[in-house]
Amino acid sequence: MNDVVIAPSILAADCGRLNEEIKEVEAATSYLHIDVMDGHYVPNLTFGVPVVESIRKATNMIFDVHLMVTNPMDFFKPFADAGADMLTFHVETVEDPDAAIDAIRKLGKRAGISIHPDTPIEKVLPYVTKCDLVLVMSVRPGFGGQHFMEESLSRIAAVRKVIDENDADTIISVDGGICDETAPRVVSAGASYLVAGSAVFSNKDHARAVKELLSCALS
Ligand code: DX5
Ligand code: ZN
Repeated sequence: MNDVVIAPSILAADCGRLNEEIKEVEAATSYLHIDVMDGHYVPNLTFGVPVVESIRKATNMIFDVHLMVTNPMDFFKPFADAGADMLTFHVETVEDPDAAIDAIRKLGKRAGISIHPDTPIEKVLPYVTKCDLVLVMSVRPGFGGQHFMEESLSRIAAVRKVIDENDADTIISVDGGICDETAPRVVSAGASYLVAGSAVFSNKDHARAVKELLSCALS
């Protein structure tokens, strides 16, 4: 089992003071989740390459860029150049997931593959041992602050089974509705990388929220 980590999602941060918000969570974790949305694959728009470039200057945190866009392969290099450390694309958005994983690796970055809650989990299973991270979406992608979808637990377990059967070290990430109550349950199901937006940034003390979430996850 990998160590459990919390990756705050800046979707829920106060973007007018983004660098300060990042500094606050940096005190409690090394990972930062950055949601990139194109208004096409998902019905919302968020951060582009210039934002990543800009916040890169303010922190050494590990940037986990979650690409909720059609044609994600067009954006691997721009985000890698801007300072991403991990690049995650959606299995629904590429014709050849193996080629997408290879393209990310060629850029020297960690490769993640994500799956929409409406897509059968079987669709991602053939790529589980090949990538560094599988991101199981536990809400419909596009917005923060939604309720955790219970069926995500069996989906995480299905990915975990493939990892264990193959003795792989792929990390399972979960994104959406992670809070003190859901965190321990996703960890029991087999996840170790917990993305959290509102649970971290709606608490005035963001660093404390991260630490609390981690201790709940491990309970
Ligand atoms: C949703 C994003 C998430 C979002 C999670 O499409 O991918 O990263 O920030 O937000 P919470 O933790 O509020 O559900
Ligand atoms: Zn995300």
